[in-house]
Amino acid sequence: MSELNNIALKITSNGKGILAADESTATMTKRLESVGTDSSPEKRLKFRHSLFSSGSMKKCIGGVILYDETIRQEYNSRKISEIISANGALPGIKVDTGAKTLANSSDEKITEGLDGLRERLKEYYKLGARFTKWRGVYIISKEYPSDLAKTSNAHALARYSALAQESGMVPIVEPEVLMDGDHSAEDCLKITSEVIKKCFDELDHNKVDLKGIILKPNMILPGSSSNQKLSTQVIAEMTLECLKKSVPNEVPSIAFLSGGQSEEEAAKNLNSINKLNDSNFLMTFSYGRALQQSALKYWAKNQEDINGTQKIFNHRANMCSLAAKGNWTEDIEKK
Ligand code: G3H
Repeated sequence: MSELNNIALKITSNGKGILAADESTATMTKRLESVGTDSSPEKRLKFRHSLFSSGSMKKCIGGVILYDETIRQEYNSRKISEIISANGALPGIKVDTGAKTLANSSDEKITEGLDGLRERLKEYYKLGARFTKWRGVYIISKEYPSDLAKTSNAHALARYSALAQESGMVPIVEPEVLMDGDHSAEDCLKITSEVIKKCFDELDHNKVDLKGIILKPNMILPGSSSNQKLSTQVIAEMTLECLKKSVPNEVPSIAFLSGGQSEEEAAKNLNSINKLNDSNFLMTFSYGRALQQSALKYWAKNQEDINGTQKIFNHRANMCSLAAKGNWTEDIEKK
């Protein structure tokens, strides 16, 4: 079991964090089309390979979450998982099969993928994965999330985690309370605390070793259509309050999702959290959009300029890594 703890620490220590490049083909197609490019396996690979072979990988990125398509791909006859390992990071894999309509609460979602998971995990381990990801999603509104959504998603996250650990891989436990809506940050704090507590109840029932997981939560933020404006200091205080009261001390690392924050906000808020962090948890990033957005935009228009794309990605990875140590500043951001 200490091997799982070592993996979690290797991915998240010393200012390192996670590059979430596990967008499903449908999501990646939407992202590529939004920057005016069509989507094909070759294009998705070309863009992602430019990130995985960037100079900042060794210093800033401890793990890369891949999608099923990518972990099976090769670039210039080298396996993607080998390219990632050679650049100092561990390959990981998203193993859920997506969030589907929850029966008897059709505005909500339940994440699927438990059937056949043990066999799929064995294959992913052979393909080089050493950690895994499963994301549950929750909405905030007057009546949601329902108890049913909280219980069902926590149960699935816990059963997945037990299977991932059995296969020798660290589970990333991602309960994402979505930013969509006009709720306040206080609502987000209350709901996120309930959701996380429920996950740890189920992890406990399923005998998951908490030293061998990484928690991937949302930060505590007002809803994206609310008028509430909070300073980064208050966001950090509320986020720490939530996590200190709902996450057991054995958990080694918390790696936040960016969830629709801008690249700069995601770095700034993580930095404030680390400046104030008086807990035992390592607090780092597991960002998708907040690491890739600008690089993808540039790449779409300059697909042969790999160096230019990597320069943009390296800057974002450096900003996130500084934030994971509480050393990010606005001046460095603008340089
Ligand atoms: O599951 C969500 C991704 O791994 C993180 O994506 O940082 O764009 O929210 P995000």
